[in-house]
Amino acid sequence: MSQDPHFPEVHLRPPANWINDPNGLVHHNGWYHVFFQHNPQAPTHEQVHWGHYRSRDLLRWEPQPLALAPDFGHPDEDGCFSGNAVSHDGRITAFYSAHRVGHPWQPVAAADSDPDGRTFVKRPELLVPEAPLGVTTFRDPYVWRDGERWRMLVGAGCSDGDGAALAYTSPDLDTWTYEGALHRRADTAPADSGVRTGEAWECPQLAAYDDGRVLLLTSAWYQRTGPSHVVAWSGARDGDGFRFDGVTRFDHGPDFYAPALMRAPDGRWLLWGWSWEARDAMCAKEAGWAGVLTVPREITLGPDGKPHQAPARELAGLRTRTWRETCRTEPDTTTVLGDIGAAADVRVRLGFGADPAWGLRLVCGSGGTEYLDLEARDGALTVDRGHASGDARAHVGAYRMPLPELAPGGEVELRIILDHSIAEIFSGSGEALTVRFYPSVCEAWTLVSRGIARDAVEVSVDAHDLRIPDTGRA
Ligand code: FRU
Repeated sequence: MSQDPHFPEVHLRPPANWINDPNGLVHHNGWYHVFFQHNPQAPTHEQVHWGHYRSRDLLRWEPQPLALAPDFGHPDEDGCFSGNAVSHDGRITAFYSAHRVGHPWQPVAAADSDPDGRTFVKRPELLVPEAPLGVTTFRDPYVWRDGERWRMLVGAGCSDGDGAALAYTSPDLDTWTYEGALHRRADTAPADSGVRTGEAWECPQLAAYDDGRVLLLTSAWYQRTGPSHVVAWSGARDGDGFRFDGVTRFDHGPDFYAPALMRAPDGRWLLWGWSWEARDAMCAKEAGWAGVLTVPREITLGPDGKPHQAPARELAGLRTRTWRETCRTEPDTTTVLGDIGAAADVRVRLGFGADPAWGLRLVCGSGGTEYLDLEARDGALTVDRGHASGDARAHVGAYRMPLPELAPGGEVELRIILDHSIAEIFSGSGEALTVRFYPSVCEAWTLVSRGIARDAVEVSVDAHDLRIPDTGRA
Protein backbone atom coordinates (compact mmCIF):
# COMPACT_ATOMS: atom_id res chain seq x y z
CA MET A 1 0.00 0.00 0.00
CA SER A 2 2.93 2.35 0.70
CA GLN A 3 3.62 2.35 -3.11
CA ASP A 4 0.30 4.11 -3.66
CA PRO A 5 1.14 7.80 -4.20
CA HIS A 6 -2.23 8.85 -2.79
CA PHE A 7 -2.12 6.86 0.44
CA PRO A 8 -1.72 9.27 3.40
CA GLU A 9 1.39 9.13 5.55
CA VAL A 10 0.46 10.91 8.78
CA HIS A 11 -3.33 10.82 8.61
CA LEU A 12 -4.90 7.95 10.49
CA ARG A 13 -6.48 5.01 8.66
CA PRO A 14 -5.82 1.26 8.37
CA PRO A 15 -3.66 -0.04 5.48
CA ALA A 16 -6.59 -1.29 3.39
CA ASN A 17 -10.34 -1.23 2.78
CA TRP A 18 -13.13 1.13 3.69
CA ILE A 19 -13.39 3.67 6.48
CA ASN A 20 -15.88 6.42 7.22
CA ASP A 21 -16.87 8.29 10.41
CA PRO A 22 -14.61 8.57 13.46
CA ASN A 23 -16.48 7.06 16.42
CA GLY A 24 -16.18 6.68 20.18
CA LEU A 25 -13.31 9.13 20.71
CA VAL A 26 -12.30 8.85 24.33
CA HIS A 27 -9.31 9.21 26.64
CA HIS A 28 -9.10 6.16 28.92
CA ASN A 29 -6.32 5.07 31.30
CA GLY A 30 -3.68 7.29 29.70
CA TRP A 31 -4.53 6.42 26.08
CA TYR A 32 -6.39 8.31 23.37
CA HIS A 33 -8.76 5.87 21.65
CA VAL A 34 -10.01 6.47 18.14
CA PHE A 35 -12.62 4.11 16.72
CA PHE A 36 -14.01 4.47 13.21
CA GLN A 37 -16.49 2.97 10.77
CA HIS A 38 -14.61 0.24 8.90
CA ASN A 39 -15.36 -2.54 6.46
CA PRO A 40 -12.36 -4.87 6.97
CA GLN A 41 -13.22 -6.92 3.83
CA ALA A 42 -13.49 -4.39 1.01
CA PRO A 43 -13.15 -0.71 0.08
CA THR A 44 -16.95 -0.37 0.04
CA HIS A 45 -19.49 0.94 2.54
CA GLU A 46 -20.97 -2.38 3.66
CA GLN A 47 -20.94 -4.48 6.84
CA VAL A 48 -19.31 -1.71 8.83
CA HIS A 49 -17.43 -2.65 12.00
CA TRP A 50 -15.76 -0.36 14.53
CA GLY A 51 -12.01 -0.28 13.79
CA HIS A 52 -9.77 0.89 16.61
CA TYR A 53 -6.42 2.64 17.22
CA ARG A 54 -4.93 3.97 20.41
CA SER A 55 -2.14 6.44 21.13
CA ARG A 56 -0.47 8.07 24.10
CA ASP A 57 0.66 11.17 22.22
CA LEU A 58 -1.65 11.64 19.18
CA LEU A 59 1.37 10.89 16.95
CA ARG A 60 2.08 7.16 17.18
CA TRP A 61 -1.03 5.01 16.80
CA GLU A 62 -1.24 1.33 17.71
CA PRO A 63 -3.78 -0.81 15.85
CA GLN A 64 -6.19 -2.61 18.16
CA PRO A 65 -8.50 -5.57 17.53
CA LEU A 66 -11.78 -4.73 15.76
CA ALA A 67 -13.97 -3.39 18.56
CA LEU A 68 -17.46 -4.12 17.22
CA ALA A 69 -18.57 -6.46 14.45
CA PRO A 70 -22.07 -7.08 13.05
CA ASP A 71 -23.61 -10.30 14.47
CA PHE A 72 -25.97 -12.47 12.45
CA GLY A 73 -29.45 -12.47 14.02
CA HIS A 74 -28.70 -9.33 16.08
CA PRO A 75 -30.26 -5.93 15.30
CA ASP A 76 -26.75 -4.89 14.15
CA GLU A 77 -26.43 -7.77 11.66
CA ASP A 78 -25.75 -5.44 8.71
CA GLY A 79 -23.58 -2.88 10.44
CA CYS A 80 -22.38 -1.38 13.70
CA PHE A 81 -23.09 2.20 12.68
CA SER A 82 -21.77 5.36 14.34
CA GLY A 83 -21.86 6.48 17.96
CA ASN A 84 -19.54 7.56 20.73
CA ALA A 85 -18.02 6.23 23.96
CA VAL A 86 -17.39 7.21 27.56
CA SER A 87 -14.73 6.13 30.04
CA HIS A 88 -16.64 5.15 33.19
CA ASP A 89 -16.26 2.62 36.03
CA GLY A 90 -12.82 1.54 34.78
CA ARG A 91 -13.92 0.63 31.25
CA ILE A 92 -15.02 2.11 27.96
CA THR A 93 -18.71 1.92 27.15
CA ALA A 94 -19.44 2.34 23.45
CA PHE A 95 -22.85 3.50 22.18
CA TYR A 96 -23.65 2.70 18.56
CA SER A 97 -26.41 2.42 15.99
CA ALA A 98 -27.53 -1.12 15.16
CA HIS A 99 -28.17 -1.43 11.42
CA ARG A 100 -30.32 -3.93 9.56
CA VAL A 101 -30.85 -3.55 5.82
CA GLY A 102 -34.36 -2.31 5.13
CA HIS A 103 -34.73 -0.49 8.46
CA PRO A 104 -34.88 3.27 7.89
CA TRP A 105 -33.70 4.00 11.44
CA GLN A 106 -31.20 2.37 13.79
CA PRO A 107 -31.87 1.55 17.47
CA VAL A 108 -29.24 2.51 20.06
CA ALA A 109 -27.05 -0.38 21.27
CA ALA A 110 -24.11 -0.50 23.69
CA ALA A 111 -21.01 -2.56 24.46
CA ASP A 112 -18.57 -2.56 27.40
CA SER A 113 -14.80 -3.04 27.23
CA ASP A 114 -12.26 -4.86 29.38
CA PRO A 115 -10.28 -2.54 31.71
CA ASP A 116 -7.72 -1.76 28.95
CA GLY A 117 -10.38 -0.80 26.42
CA ARG A 118 -9.19 -3.45 23.92
CA THR A 119 -12.08 -5.89 23.57
CA PHE A 120 -15.82 -5.29 23.85
CA VAL A 121 -18.85 -7.29 24.96
CA LYS A 122 -22.22 -6.21 23.59
CA ARG A 123 -25.06 -5.58 26.02
CA PRO A 124 -27.93 -8.01 25.46
CA GLU A 125 -30.63 -5.30 25.49
CA LEU A 126 -30.93 -2.34 23.15
CA LEU A 127 -30.75 0.95 25.08
CA VAL A 128 -33.28 2.71 22.85
CA PRO A 129 -35.15 0.07 20.82
CA GLU A 130 -37.60 2.40 19.03
CA ALA A 131 -37.41 5.82 17.39
CA PRO A 132 -39.98 8.27 18.81
CA LEU A 133 -43.24 8.76 16.90
CA GLY A 134 -42.91 10.96 13.81
CA VAL A 135 -39.18 10.29 13.50
CA THR A 136 -38.14 8.68 10.21
CA THR A 137 -34.33 8.82 10.43
CA PHE A 138 -32.73 7.99 13.78
CA ARG A 139 -29.08 7.13 14.48
CA ASP A 140 -25.68 8.07 15.92
CA PRO A 141 -25.94 8.34 19.74
CA TYR A 142 -23.68 10.84 21.51
CA VAL A 143 -23.49 10.32 25.29
CA TRP A 144 -21.89 12.63 27.86
CA ARG A 145 -21.87 13.25 31.59
CA ASP A 146 -23.74 16.40 32.63
CA GLY A 147 -23.61 17.03 36.37
CA GLU A 148 -25.46 14.26 38.19
CA ARG A 149 -26.80 12.44 35.14
CA TRP A 150 -26.00 11.22 31.66
CA ARG A 151 -27.36 12.79 28.54
CA MET A 152 -27.62 11.37 25.03
CA LEU A 153 -28.30 12.98 21.66
CA VAL A 154 -29.50 10.98 18.68
CA GLY A 155 -29.44 12.38 15.12
CA ALA A 156 -32.84 12.44 13.46
CA GLY A 157 -35.04 13.40 10.54
CA CYS A 158 -38.75 13.96 11.22
CA SER A 159 -41.80 13.28 9.04
CA ASP A 160 -42.62 17.03 9.08
CA GLY A 161 -39.30 17.71 7.28
CA ASP A 162 -37.29 18.93 10.28
CA GLY A 163 -33.80 17.70 11.06
CA ALA A 164 -33.24 17.25 14.80
CA ALA A 165 -30.92 16.28 17.63
CA LEU A 166 -33.17 14.30 20.01
CA ALA A 167 -32.37 14.29 23.73
CA TYR A 168 -32.44 11.48 26.31
CA THR A 169 -31.33 11.38 29.94
CA SER A 170 -30.23 8.54 32.19
CA PRO A 171 -29.17 8.16 35.84
CA ASP A 172 -27.01 5.10 35.13
CA LEU A 173 -26.26 4.61 31.39
CA ASP A 174 -28.86 1.79 31.30
CA THR A 175 -32.32 3.33 31.47
CA TRP A 176 -32.95 6.21 29.09
CA THR A 177 -35.86 8.68 29.12
CA TYR A 178 -36.84 10.62 26.01
CA GLU A 179 -36.86 14.40 26.61
CA GLY A 180 -37.85 15.71 23.15
CA ALA A 181 -35.64 17.60 20.72
CA LEU A 182 -32.59 19.43 22.06
CA HIS A 183 -32.64 21.36 18.78
CA ARG A 184 -34.55 21.02 15.48
CA ARG A 185 -34.90 22.97 12.28
CA ALA A 186 -36.49 22.70 8.85
CA ASP A 187 -34.00 22.31 6.00
CA THR A 188 -33.88 25.89 4.89
CA ALA A 189 -30.89 28.18 4.74
CA PRO A 190 -31.27 30.45 7.78
CA ALA A 191 -30.83 34.07 6.68
CA ASP A 192 -27.89 34.53 9.06
CA SER A 193 -25.74 31.91 7.36
CA GLY A 194 -26.67 30.75 3.87
CA VAL A 195 -26.04 27.23 5.18
CA ARG A 196 -28.67 24.56 4.54
CA THR A 197 -29.07 22.34 7.56
CA GLY A 198 -30.11 18.95 6.12
CA GLU A 199 -33.19 16.76 5.67
CA ALA A 200 -31.87 14.71 8.58
CA TRP A 201 -29.09 15.38 11.08
CA GLU A 202 -26.44 12.69 11.42
CA CYS A 203 -23.74 12.38 14.09
CA PRO A 204 -24.77 15.14 16.53
CA GLN A 205 -21.84 16.16 18.75
CA LEU A 206 -21.93 18.61 21.62
CA ALA A 207 -19.09 20.47 23.31
CA ALA A 208 -20.11 22.16 26.56
CA TYR A 209 -17.39 24.70 27.41
CA ASP A 210 -16.64 25.60 31.01
CA ASP A 211 -17.93 29.19 30.54
CA GLY A 212 -21.47 27.95 29.76
CA ARG A 213 -21.18 28.31 25.99
CA VAL A 214 -22.02 25.33 23.82
CA LEU A 215 -21.20 24.11 20.33
CA LEU A 216 -23.51 21.62 18.61
CA LEU A 217 -22.24 20.00 15.41
CA THR A 218 -24.60 18.18 13.06
CA SER A 219 -23.89 16.50 9.75
CA ALA A 220 -26.49 17.65 7.22
CA TRP A 221 -27.74 14.61 5.32
CA TYR A 222 -29.70 14.57 2.05
CA GLN A 223 -31.47 11.66 0.43
CA ARG A 224 -30.90 12.98 -3.08
CA THR A 225 -30.21 16.69 -3.14
CA GLY A 226 -26.83 16.75 -1.29
CA PRO A 227 -23.98 17.43 -1.13
CA SER A 228 -23.75 16.79 2.57
CA HIS A 229 -21.72 19.04 4.83
CA VAL A 230 -21.30 19.89 8.51
CA VAL A 231 -23.25 22.57 10.38
CA ALA A 232 -22.09 24.33 13.59
CA TRP A 233 -24.74 25.69 15.98
CA SER A 234 -23.48 28.20 18.56
CA GLY A 235 -25.36 28.46 21.80
CA ALA A 236 -25.34 28.44 25.56
CA ARG A 237 -26.85 26.65 28.49
CA ASP A 238 -30.33 27.90 29.30
CA GLY A 239 -31.61 26.61 32.64
CA ASP A 240 -31.74 22.84 32.32
CA GLY A 241 -31.56 23.00 28.53
CA PHE A 242 -29.66 24.77 25.77
CA ARG A 243 -30.46 27.58 23.37
CA PHE A 244 -28.85 28.06 19.98
CA ASP A 245 -28.65 31.40 18.24
CA GLY A 246 -25.96 31.17 15.56
CA VAL A 247 -25.35 28.80 12.69
CA THR A 248 -22.36 28.49 10.33
CA ARG A 249 -20.84 25.99 7.96
CA PHE A 250 -18.13 24.12 9.89
CA ASP A 251 -15.65 23.17 7.14
CA HIS A 252 -15.78 24.88 3.75
CA GLY A 253 -14.27 22.07 1.69
CA PRO A 254 -16.15 19.48 -0.36
CA ASP A 255 -14.67 16.42 1.40
CA PHE A 256 -15.34 16.68 5.13
CA TYR A 257 -18.17 14.96 7.01
CA ALA A 258 -19.32 13.31 10.26
CA PRO A 259 -16.71 14.79 12.63
CA ALA A 260 -16.54 13.59 16.23
CA LEU A 261 -15.42 15.34 19.42
CA MET A 262 -13.22 14.21 22.29
CA ARG A 263 -12.52 15.96 25.58
CA ALA A 264 -8.76 15.68 26.21
CA PRO A 265 -7.58 15.23 29.82
CA ASP A 266 -6.37 18.86 29.85
CA GLY A 267 -9.89 20.07 28.98
CA ARG A 268 -9.30 20.83 25.28
CA TRP A 269 -11.98 19.83 22.78
CA LEU A 270 -10.36 17.78 20.02
CA LEU A 271 -12.07 16.73 16.80
CA TRP A 272 -11.47 14.29 13.96
CA GLY A 273 -13.52 14.26 10.75
CA TRP A 274 -13.97 11.81 7.88
CA SER A 275 -12.60 12.86 4.51
CA TRP A 276 -14.16 10.73 1.77
CA GLU A 277 -12.62 10.01 -1.61
CA ALA A 278 -13.26 12.56 -4.35
CA ARG A 279 -13.07 10.13 -7.26
CA ASP A 280 -15.40 7.55 -8.68
CA ALA A 281 -16.00 4.32 -6.77
CA MET A 282 -14.04 2.21 -9.29
CA CYS A 283 -10.88 4.06 -8.20
CA ALA A 284 -11.35 2.89 -4.61
CA LYS A 285 -11.73 -0.71 -5.87
CA GLU A 286 -8.49 -0.35 -7.84
CA ALA A 287 -6.64 1.31 -4.93
CA GLY A 288 -7.98 -1.13 -2.30
CA TRP A 289 -8.78 1.60 0.20
CA ALA A 290 -11.17 4.52 0.69
CA GLY A 291 -11.54 7.27 3.28
CA VAL A 292 -9.19 8.93 5.73
CA LEU A 293 -9.58 10.57 9.12
CA THR A 294 -8.50 14.20 9.33
CA VAL A 295 -5.72 15.24 11.67
CA PRO A 296 -6.96 16.02 15.18
CA ARG A 297 -8.12 19.63 15.45
CA GLU A 298 -8.46 21.82 18.52
CA ILE A 299 -11.86 23.45 18.67
CA THR A 300 -12.29 26.66 20.66
CA LEU A 301 -15.00 29.33 20.51
CA GLY A 302 -14.43 32.86 19.26
CA PRO A 303 -15.92 35.92 21.01
CA ASP A 304 -18.98 35.57 18.73
CA GLY A 305 -19.45 31.94 19.85
CA LYS A 306 -18.39 30.58 16.45
CA PRO A 307 -16.01 27.61 16.34
CA HIS A 308 -12.32 28.25 15.77
CA GLN A 309 -10.34 25.32 14.34
CA ALA A 310 -6.59 24.69 14.37
CA PRO A 311 -4.47 21.54 14.01
CA ALA A 312 -3.78 19.97 17.43
CA ARG A 313 -0.55 21.40 18.86
CA GLU A 314 0.85 17.85 19.26
CA LEU A 315 1.27 17.65 15.46
CA ALA A 316 4.44 19.75 15.83
CA GLY A 317 5.98 16.40 16.92
CA LEU A 318 5.67 15.12 13.31
CA ARG A 319 7.95 17.81 11.87
CA THR A 320 11.25 16.80 10.27
CA ARG A 321 13.06 18.88 7.62
CA THR A 322 12.34 22.60 8.09
CA TRP A 323 12.95 25.65 5.94
CA ARG A 324 11.95 29.29 6.21
CA GLU A 325 11.68 31.91 3.50
CA THR A 326 10.61 35.52 3.39
CA CYS A 327 10.08 37.46 0.21
CA ARG A 328 8.21 40.33 -1.34
CA THR A 329 6.00 39.29 -4.24
CA GLU A 330 5.51 42.15 -6.72
CA PRO A 331 2.41 42.50 -8.92
CA ASP A 332 2.35 40.17 -11.93
CA THR A 333 5.38 38.19 -10.80
CA THR A 334 5.85 34.69 -9.43
CA THR A 335 8.45 33.62 -6.87
CA VAL A 336 9.47 30.05 -6.08
CA LEU A 337 9.39 29.77 -2.29
CA GLY A 338 10.77 26.22 -1.91
CA ASP A 339 9.94 22.52 -2.00
CA ILE A 340 8.04 20.33 0.42
CA GLY A 341 7.58 16.56 0.62
CA ALA A 342 4.29 14.75 0.01
CA ALA A 343 3.40 15.11 3.70
CA ALA A 344 4.05 18.64 5.00
CA ASP A 345 2.95 21.36 7.37
CA VAL A 346 3.22 24.85 5.88
CA ARG A 347 2.52 28.15 7.61
CA VAL A 348 2.32 31.31 5.52
CA ARG A 349 2.11 34.85 6.91
CA LEU A 350 1.07 37.60 4.52
CA GLY A 351 1.34 41.38 4.87
CA PHE A 352 -0.80 43.35 2.40
CA GLY A 353 -0.72 46.81 0.90
CA ALA A 354 -3.77 48.75 -0.28
CA ASP A 355 -4.94 45.93 -2.58
CA PRO A 356 -5.15 42.72 -0.53
CA ALA A 357 -4.90 39.77 -2.90
CA TRP A 358 -2.39 36.93 -3.29
CA GLY A 359 -1.98 33.51 -4.86
CA LEU A 360 -0.17 30.34 -3.82
CA ARG A 361 0.32 27.56 -6.33
CA LEU A 362 1.33 24.13 -5.04
CA VAL A 363 2.89 22.47 -8.06
CA CYS A 364 3.17 18.70 -7.89
CA GLY A 365 6.22 16.94 -9.35
CA SER A 366 8.38 18.42 -12.06
CA GLY A 367 5.97 18.54 -15.02
CA GLY A 368 4.32 21.76 -13.86
CA THR A 369 0.91 20.72 -15.19
CA GLU A 370 -0.61 19.42 -11.96
CA TYR A 371 -1.18 21.95 -9.21
CA LEU A 372 -3.53 23.09 -6.46
CA ASP A 373 -4.30 26.80 -6.54
CA LEU A 374 -5.09 28.98 -3.54
CA GLU A 375 -6.22 32.54 -4.13
CA ALA A 376 -6.97 35.10 -1.44
CA ARG A 377 -9.11 38.01 -2.63
CA ASP A 378 -12.46 39.70 -1.94
CA GLY A 379 -12.69 38.50 1.67
CA ALA A 380 -12.26 34.80 0.85
CA LEU A 381 -9.71 32.11 0.09
CA THR A 382 -10.60 30.11 -3.03
CA VAL A 383 -9.09 26.65 -3.35
CA ASP A 384 -9.20 25.33 -6.92
CA ARG A 385 -8.44 21.65 -7.56
CA GLY A 386 -9.28 21.86 -11.28
CA HIS A 387 -5.68 20.92 -12.20
CA ALA A 388 -4.66 18.93 -9.13
CA SER A 389 -5.40 15.38 -10.32
CA GLY A 390 -3.91 13.24 -13.04
CA ASP A 391 -7.01 11.06 -13.40
CA ALA A 392 -10.13 12.30 -15.17
CA ARG A 393 -12.23 10.30 -12.69
CA ALA A 394 -11.27 12.73 -9.87
CA HIS A 395 -13.70 15.47 -8.88
CA VAL A 396 -12.79 19.03 -9.79
CA GLY A 397 -14.07 22.40 -8.56
CA ALA A 398 -13.23 25.55 -6.64
CA TYR A 399 -14.28 26.14 -3.02
CA ARG A 400 -14.44 29.35 -0.97
CA MET A 401 -13.55 29.82 2.67
CA PRO A 402 -14.32 33.20 4.31
CA LEU A 403 -11.25 35.26 5.16
CA PRO A 404 -12.65 38.34 6.90
CA GLU A 405 -9.15 39.40 8.01
CA LEU A 406 -8.19 39.99 4.35
CA ALA A 407 -8.22 43.82 4.36
CA PRO A 408 -6.11 46.69 2.99
CA GLY A 409 -2.92 46.94 5.03
CA GLY A 410 -3.95 43.77 6.89
CA GLU A 411 -2.21 40.54 7.82
CA VAL A 412 -3.33 37.00 7.11
CA GLU A 413 -2.05 33.67 8.32
CA LEU A 414 -2.71 30.36 6.57
CA ARG A 415 -1.73 26.85 7.60
CA ILE A 416 -1.77 23.91 5.22
CA ILE A 417 -1.48 20.29 6.32
CA LEU A 418 -0.79 18.37 3.15
CA ASP A 419 -0.63 14.56 2.96
CA HIS A 420 -0.43 12.93 -0.51
CA SER A 421 -4.11 13.22 -1.52
CA ILE A 422 -5.54 15.47 1.19
CA ALA A 423 -5.05 19.09 2.20
CA GLU A 424 -6.52 20.61 5.34
CA ILE A 425 -6.30 24.38 5.13
CA PHE A 426 -6.80 26.63 8.17
CA SER A 427 -6.94 30.40 8.47
CA GLY A 428 -5.64 32.33 11.47
CA SER A 429 -9.26 33.32 12.11
CA GLY A 430 -10.16 29.66 12.64
CA GLU A 431 -11.89 28.67 9.39
CA ALA A 432 -11.08 25.29 7.80
CA LEU A 433 -11.35 23.72 4.35
CA THR A 434 -10.67 20.04 3.58
CA VAL A 435 -10.09 18.92 0.00
CA ARG A 436 -8.92 15.74 -1.81
CA PHE A 437 -7.00 15.41 -5.14
CA TYR A 438 -4.93 12.78 -6.91
CA PRO A 439 -1.77 13.97 -8.67
CA SER A 440 -0.05 11.40 -10.96
CA VAL A 441 3.19 11.46 -8.98
CA CYS A 442 3.43 12.97 -5.56
CA GLU A 443 6.84 12.89 -4.02
CA ALA A 444 7.40 16.63 -3.76
CA TRP A 445 5.57 19.89 -4.28
CA THR A 446 6.97 23.30 -5.17
CA LEU A 447 5.41 26.35 -3.52
CA VAL A 448 5.03 29.32 -5.84
CA SER A 449 3.96 32.76 -4.63
CA ARG A 450 1.88 34.66 -7.21
CA GLY A 451 1.50 38.44 -7.29
CA ILE A 452 -2.13 38.96 -8.34
CA ALA A 453 -2.75 42.33 -6.62
CA ARG A 454 -1.89 45.89 -7.68
CA ASP A 455 0.46 46.05 -4.66
CA ALA A 456 3.36 43.95 -3.47
CA VAL A 457 2.72 41.35 -0.72
CA GLU A 458 5.17 40.48 2.07
CA VAL A 459 5.29 36.68 2.30
CA SER A 460 6.88 34.65 5.05
CA VAL A 461 6.79 30.84 5.04
CA ASP A 462 7.64 28.17 7.62
CA ALA A 463 7.60 24.74 6.01
CA HIS A 464 8.15 21.32 7.53
CA ASP A 465 8.00 17.85 6.08
CA LEU A 466 6.05 15.44 8.28
CA ARG A 467 6.84 11.91 9.39
CA ILE A 468 5.54 9.66 12.14
CA PRO A 469 8.36 9.49 14.73
CA ASP A 470 10.24 6.24 15.50
CA THR A 471 8.95 3.17 13.78
CA GLY A 472 6.02 4.85 12.09
CA ARG A 473 2.44 3.82 12.75
CA ALA A 474 2.81 0.73 14.91
C1 FRU B 1 -22.50 9.23 8.51
C2 FRU B 1 -23.24 7.92 8.62
C3 FRU B 1 -23.90 7.76 9.96
C4 FRU B 1 -24.03 6.27 10.09
C5 FRU B 1 -22.74 5.81 9.47
C6 FRU B 1 -22.83 4.48 8.77
O1 FRU B 1 -21.49 9.19 7.54
O2 FRU B 1 -24.18 7.78 7.57
O3 FRU B 1 -25.12 8.45 10.08
O4 FRU B 1 -24.17 5.85 11.42
O5 FRU B 1 -22.35 6.79 8.56
O6 FRU B 1 -21.57 4.05 8.36
